[in-house]
Amino acid sequence: QVADSLHVINAFAQKYFADILMSNEEGQDIGLSYLKQRGFREEIIQKFQLGYCLERGNAFAKTAIANQYNPEYLQKSGLVVLRNDELMDNYRGRVIFPVHNNTGKIIGFGARIIKKNDKAPKYINTPENELYHKSKILYGTYFARQAIDKQDECLLVEGYTDVISLHQAGIENVVASGGTSLTQDQLRLVKKYTNNLTIIYDGDAAGVKAALRGLDMALEEGLNVKLVLIPDKEDPDSYVNKVGTTAFREFIAANKKDFILFQLEITLKDAAGDTTKKAAVVNQVAESISKINKAEDFTKQQDYIRQCSEILKIEEHGFTTLVNKFIR
Ligand code: GTP
Ligand code: MN
Ligand code: MN
Ligand code: MN
Ligand code: MN
Repeated sequence: QVADSLHVINAFAQKYFADILMSNEEGQDIGLSYLKQRGFREEIIQKFQLGYCLERGNAFAKTAIANQYNPEYLQKSGLVVLRNDELMDNYRGRVIFPVHNNTGKIIGFGARIIKKNDKAPKYINTPENELYHKSKILYGTYFARQAIDKQDECLLVEGYTDVISLHQAGIENVVASGGTSLTQDQLRLVKKYTNNLTIIYDGDAAGVKAALRGLDMALEEGLNVKLVLIPDKEDPDSYVNKVGTTAFREFIAANKKDFILFQLEITLKDAAGDTTKKAAVVNQVAESISKINKAEDFTKQQDYIRQCSEILKIEEHGFTTLVNKFIR
């Protein structure tokens, strides 16, 4: 009931903000020109139903109230906030990214500031409500479903703009986590579509850490996890715009790493000759391998045990015993 009302409000808001972006003078001059300057073409802007919220005041709130939308639900939706007894637009001066559910209905929004500053957050997202449950959402699933199915692979990136830019480049089997660590619910969502997950994160320390945190959970879900790290200060959006579609595809193909072996490689490098540290690495990778404990993945588990014991230069049988200790 509440969820239905929120759906209706979100649909109304999406149309309103898209109209502003395409037809209002400020929308065009600020919102649309920002998106175009970032390389988004009109076709993709329309496909993802992007919008713009005017800078001043409460233009959306007023229109919504005039259209009989319930003030309480408008606040719940996060689209407006009460300030000094007045309903104000919450996403003023921001570009709007609607978030769709699997059937294409809008469940929430991300709103990006045009010029970054220290005072305001770069993105504002819909607060938790009856419709929007952040931990269960992957941005872009609605637009990616068919391509994921066809290619039997899901690419996972961090942000809204990564998803949209890759679509524009013809890479459509892509969803975004929204910058936070992956949750079990999000991984289950992936698993509904495919067993093959390729994580494409920033190559910086934070990106690697964020990726590693999701590994054991993903293995438990029975996913085959690959990892690609994007170089330097780039993310998939900036990188595909920099090098172009063909080079981007080639980069992904050439740099896709098996996640377990990647984890082993970097932690082993970090341990470098320290026997205590190495023992911890052996334990860690054994635990990861133990998460692949589904009967159907037995061969896969055996393969990892063989490869990892070789890399670690330890005896395979002993390592197998260690892996089995982690299986409850
Ligand atoms: P652009 O700077 O527009 O290219 O966005 P981005 O996606 O590259 O941003 P970034 O890599 O910094 O963050 C990745 C994702 O984390 C974003 O798409 C958002 O979903 C989320 N995020 C980033 N900054 C904020 C923030 O200030 N608040 C919230 N709630 N989420 C954020
Ligand atoms: Mn719910
Ligand atoms: Mn980063
Ligand atoms: Mn970016
Ligand atoms: Mn980014």
